[in-house]
Order: sequence, then structure tokens, then C-alpha cells
Amino acid sequence: MILKQNEITLKRPDDWHLHVRDNILLQLVLHYTSSTYGRAMIMPNLASPIVDIQSAINYRKKILSLVPNCHNFIPLMTCYLTESLDPNEIEKGFVSSIFHAVKLYPMNSTIHSSYGVKNIRSINKILERIQQIGIPLLIHCEVTDVNVDIFDREARFIDQVIEPIRKQFPKIKMVLEHISTKEAVEYIESSDKRTCATITPHHLMLNRNDLLINGINPHFYCFPILKSRVHQEALRRVISTGNSSFFLGTDSAPHFCNKKENIHGLAGIFNAPVALSVYASIFEELNALKYFEAFCSENGARFYNLPVNKDKITLIRKQTIVEDAIGKFPNHIVPFLAGKTLDWSIKI
Ligand code: NCD
Ligand code: ZN
Repeated sequence: MILKQNEITLKRPDDWHLHVRDNILLQLVLHYTSSTYGRAMIMPNLASPIVDIQSAINYRKKILSLVPNCHNFIPLMTCYLTESLDPNEIEKGFVSSIFHAVKLYPMNSTIHSSYGVKNIRSINKILERIQQIGIPLLIHCEVTDVNVDIFDREARFIDQVIEPIRKQFPKIKMVLEHISTKEAVEYIESSDKRTCATITPHHLMLNRNDLLINGINPHFYCFPILKSRVHQEALRRVISTGNSSFFLGTDSAPHFCNKKENIHGLAGIFNAPVALSVYASIFEELNALKYFEAFCSENGARFYNLPVNKDKITLIRKQTIVEDAIGKFPNHIVPFLAGKTLDWSIKI
């Protein structure tokens, strides 16, 4: 990495947690990621989820057909874990490099998770195979018990679900996705390198006051929900220590504007156009730019046993204003930080 006062050159980053959706949304959003990142771990929670090898192949093909020729981008596919998933399908998909990870959604924890897992004990055979073959398990860490307060769902999940899985399957490689709490940070810090976490730009930048004060902001609404400042500070602290168990995963999750600005507004923040710039500003604020490249471009690749990207990209200190909307009304998306000024821009 080359760090200058007004320029950062780093190995091309990867996004280890990304939703690109399908159809119009896919066409609108993909190039924001493919222009910047070398690879992205593509989430399988489509309306019709990616639960087998054939649907992953079809989805990958569709994504690749929309990547502009000048971009050097590889989508990495994940398999949606359902209680009826055949362990042989996971193994076949992993061995043939179609699946790079399996995604565990607790049933009804988030968007399109109704096919997710209701009873963790019912997937023991699947977890056994996941451990045996070494495919990483990516976990949406929130309990769904309606009696558990929404702000406590992640911490509770670590005690109730992660710990027991860990004890029973000590060798599974797992990623706690988009962590949002002090408890998750501390859990990873006390674990070995088989347990890692992704951190989003929005959980680093914001806390629940930003969501709820001065008029509720639906474009800051996501799962896991933004927590209090104490938790935000824990996330910021850990990236400034350079701990290699934490890496970039934007959780960019676009929805059309009318689905966000709605009485039943959906969770998900479309941050792909601004994520890298936001991460850079945060590392700079924390005086931790020396760890920026490892977080963006190395730690994740190492966890997945993939080579780091060979080419580089450069960020320059140049103010740009984030677009107000992407796409044409009524099929438009409001990006994260719309209308706000970013301090770092990607040099083209
Ligand atoms: C994601 C989505 O919209 O698919 N939403 C979100 O708020 N993060 C799902 C997820 O990652 O939980
Ligand atoms: Zn997500």
C-alpha cells in the first residue's frame, strides 16, 4: 500500500458480503461493485433463493453477462441453507467451485429469509458436512424470538446459537456477518482464526441516534439494526487494532425507493457506490490507515484461501457529492449518503 497525504494506493479490494438482486435492480447496481472490487460474495436471498448448484450457475451467468468488459470482476456464489438442503449438493458445489460459502439465515430474520432455518438442531447433518469439507459458513446472527428486543438480537444469538455450534463443530470456518455489537466484537477477538466477521461502512459510521433523531431515516434502516454508540465505538476500536479476523463486507442491499419510504419500509442500505470512500474516511479518522489495505484486500482473501488481487486501485482526496437517486422513477434507488459529500474518490 502506498499512503500519501492525498492519495491511497492499495491492492484491489473484495466485498465479502453483497446483495446484487435480480432483473432491474441487478442491472442498476452491479457496475458500482464490479468497477471497484475484484470479487464479491453474492448473497443468495433472492425472492426465489439460490438453494442448489443449477440456480447458482444460472445466477452467476446472469451476473457475468452484465459485467462491463473493462471490469475484472468475479462473483462468488453462496448457497442458501434450508433445513432440507442435501449435504451432497453442498459438497458437489464446493468441490466444483460453484459455491464458495453456505449462508445461514434464521427463519424470518431478514429480507427473503422465510426459507431459512427454524430449528438449528435440525441441520446437524448439514453442519457436520460443512465442517468436514471446510466450506465457510456465513451466519446472519440474530435470534427471531418476538420476545427478544430487536437491539438485543445479535448478542443473544451469540450465546444461544453460535456458542453451541462452536462447541459441537469446533473446526467449522464461520463468518459472523455484518456485526453490530460489542459482544460480537469481543466474541471474535476471543476466538481463533476459524471465526471471523465482516463489518459494514454504515455500522462503523452511524449509531441508532442517526436513524431515529431529527426524523426517522428509512435509508439508515437495516438488519442488524444500528445500535447505540457504545457498540459503534467497539466496531471502530477493533478495526483500528488491525486484527486480521475482521474484513470488508458492505452488505450493500438495494431496494426500490418506494419500498424503503413506506409504512412497512424494508431493511437494507444501498451503499455500493460509496462504501470504499466511507471506509477510507473512517480509517483515517481513527488514524488507522496503515490497516486499511489488510481490512479491504487481504484478511478476507486469506480466510477464504484465495489469492489477494494482483492489481491495485487508487483513492484520491477529492470531494464528490453522492447522487440523489439511481435509476428512473418509480424504479429508482436512493444510495447511502445521497446528497452528502465524500472526501475520498476512486481514481479512474
Ligand atoms: C438485507 C437484504 O435486504 O437482503 N437487508 C439488510 O438490512 N441487511 C438482508 C441482510 O443481510 O440481512
Ligand atoms: Zn446482507
